[in-house]
Amino acid sequence: MSRRPIIAGNWKMNMLQDDARALFMGVAKHAEEYTVEQLPTIVIAPVFTSIAAVESMRCSKCRPLVKTAAQNCHWESSGAYTGEISVEMVKDAGCDYVIIGHSERRQYFSETDEMINKKAKAILKGGLLPIICCGETLEQREAGQTDAHITSQIKAALDGISSEDVAKSVIAYEPIWAIGTGKTCDAVEANRVIAMIRNVVKEVAGEAAAEAIRILYGGSVKPSTIEEQMNQSDIDGALVGGASLKADSFNEIIDNTMKTM
Ligand code: PGA
Repeated sequence: MSRRPIIAGNWKMNMLQDDARALFMGVAKHAEEYTVEQLPTIVIAPVFTSIAAVESMRCSKCRPLVKTAAQNCHWESSGAYTGEISVEMVKDAGCDYVIIGHSERRQYFSETDEMINKKAKAILKGGLLPIICCGETLEQREAGQTDAHITSQIKAALDGISSEDVAKSVIAYEPIWAIGTGKTCDAVEANRVIAMIRNVVKEVAGEAAAEAIRILYGGSVKPSTIEEQMNQSDIDGALVGGASLKADSFNEIIDNTMKTM
């Protein structure tokens, strides 16, 4: 498989600046023992107010090894949008990626597929890469609606985006019932859904984009689960919440990913 894996840490609403600097250094020091070619793409997503603190620690050696992401952005470039932050601002802060459409944002902040599509377009236009999240609730899974729900989320998110831009993007399949619950989705089932997502990408953006796009699994990823997940045909990495908040467990996830590369 030629797709380079991504291990992304979603710190969510955690870490003051000192903690963020220390956690980043724990990840960066470990990454510095390897070359870019040996490592998966490592991404960490601090809260907005800690991005600058983390960026100040990104020396020339660790800059290519550990990338940063924002956890959200707005689709407009500036203006009267109190409390929002634009792609240009996130880029100015040093980020390479933006996580969008996380289920917590959809659920608690009423983000719609249409908003996520606008964000994805703005991020790509601004020269950054979106990590587009999708996933079903337990009720949807039990009602047999998983595939239909994910298909509609992906089609809406990618609507009007060129095949070249789709190819560069990242999708994270995160079953909502597996997030923060300690209950991981079975690796074979996660792979089945991710292969299904790749088919949807093929339908909307063509074969080359489907082959290139990296699709991650997220939901209670731990050092003990990652190897089996990475050994599946279509899983290209992980979006990690809880286990990314300690350098030891995040680094162990990276080590176990490298075993599969
Ligand atoms: P978790 O979170 O690893 O704590 O389940 C994953 C996520 O929400 O991205």
